Amino acid sequence: MTRPPDALNIHELREIARRRLPRWLFEFVDRGTEDEVALRNNRAAFERLKLDTQVLVDVSARDLSTEVLGQRHRLPIGIAPTGAAGLLWYKGELELARAAKAAGIPFTLATGSLTSMEEIARDVGGTLWFQLYIWSDLALSLKLVERAKNAGFEALVVTVDGPVPTNREYNVRNGFELPFRYTRRNTAQVLLHPRWFAGVLMRYVRDGGLPTRANYPEGETESITRPTTTSRVRKNDSVSWEDLKRLREMWPGKLMLKGVLTATDAERALEAGCDAVIVSNHGGRNFDSSMAPITVLPEIVDAVGSRTTVIVDSAFRRGSDIVKGLALGADMVLVGRPTLWGITAGGEAGARHAIGILEAEMSRTISYLGCTSVDQLARHMVRTVDTPHLPSRM
Ligand SMILES: Cc1cc2nc3c(=O)[nH]c(=O)nc-3n(C[C@H](O)[C@H](O)[C@H](O)COP(=O)(O)O)c2cc1C
Repeated sequence: MTRPPDALNIHELREIARRRLPRWLFEFVDRGTEDEVALRNNRAAFERLKLDTQVLVDVSARDLSTEVLGQRHRLPIGIAPTGAAGLLWYKGELELARAAKAAGIPFTLATGSLTSMEEIARDVGGTLWFQLYIWSDLALSLKLVERAKNAGFEALVVTVDGPVPTNREYNVRNGFELPFRYTRRNTAQVLLHPRWFAGVLMRYVRDGGLPTRANYPEGETESITRPTTTSRVRKNDSVSWEDLKRLREMWPGKLMLKGVLTATDAERALEAGCDAVIVSNHGGRNFDSSMAPITVLPEIVDAVGSRTTVIVDSAFRRGSDIVKGLALGADMVLVGRPTLWGITAGGEAGARHAIGILEAEMSRTISYLGCTSVDQLARHMVRTVDTPHLPSRM
C-alpha cells in the first residue's frame, strides 16, 4: 500500500488533491453549481451550530460504533456514491471500497463508476450499497437492480435529486463535459500534472484503454471520451413515486431514497416502502437554491425519525460536523469529497487516512460533550448562533 499522505485534516488532503489533479478534474469534484451558494451555505450552516460541553465526566472508554439498518458499523459514517473515484486514482473505486471495509463502514458504488459492481463484490466485499439513477429506459435500470441483487449488494440507494442535468458552468468552460473535449488548455493541464498523467491515465491506457462506465448496459459503456450514445441512459425527468414503488417490489434488500430535503417527501418515501431516507443536496452540486441538509435534518427527523432510518450528507468536513448531524437525529453521515481527496492523495492508504482523521476528530468531540457513545448524543446539545460571515474553507 502507498504511504499515508502528510495531512492533518481534510482541508490539507484537499490541498494535496488540488496540486495533484488537472484543474478541470479538481474543479469537477470540488465545486458546486451555478453561483455555488448552496455549496457555501452547506458549510456556513455548520458554523452556525455550536455544541454544549460537559465537564468532569469519565470519558476514557469511548466507542463510536452504531447500528444502522440492522447492522453494527464500527463508525457512524459511510462512503457516499461518487462517480469520480476511478478518475482520481487508478482503480480508485476498489481502493475506496477496501478502505471502507478496513474501517468497518459501508461503501456505496455509484451507477456511473468505472469499476463494475461484480468486481467490487468479488475483490473487496464488506458492506456494499449500490446507488441507482433511474434512466429514461426503466427496463435498463431494472436490469441494473437485478445485477446488484445477484452480486450480493445489501442496499439500493436511489438518487432522485437531479430530474434534469445540472448547470455546472465551470465544467463547460473547462471542456470537462461528457464526452470530454480536448482543448489546448485542458491538455496542458494534464501535462502539468505528470503524476496523475502517468499514475492514472497512462496506467489505464497501458491496461487496454481509457476507463468506461462499467455498470452501464452493453452498448452504452463507451470510454469517458465518447458520448453516452443513446437517450436510454440519460436522466429521466418523468420519474415518479410509481417508479419507486416498482423498484420496491423487485428489490428484496434495503431501499434508501437519496436527495430528500423536506418532511413531506420523507413521509412519501416511507409510504413507498423505503427503509431509509438520505437527506442530501448532493454536496451543493445540483440545485443552487436548495436548503442545507443539516438545516432541514431536524424537521425530517421529527417527521419520520421514529419510524425509519435517517442518513444525512453534504459538507461534513470535521468530526465535529458529524457529531452535530448525529446529535440532531441522523443515524449515520455519508462523506463524499473527504474520501475522494483521500484516494487522490494516496489511494487506499489515503482514504483510510481520511477516515482515520474523521474518527479521531469524532472521538475528541464526543469527549468534550461528556459522552462515551454516539447513542448518548442528543439534540439539546446543539445550539444555533448567528455568524455574520461565510466560511473561507470548503
Ligand atoms: C465528484 C462527485 C461525484 C458524485 N457522483 C454522484 C453519483 O454518481 N450519484 C449520487 O447519488 N451522488 C453523487 N455525488 C454526491 C455524493 O453522493 C454526496 O451526496 C456528496 O458528495 C456529499 O457531499 P460532500 O462531498 O460534501 O461530502 C457525487 C459527488 C461528487 C463530489
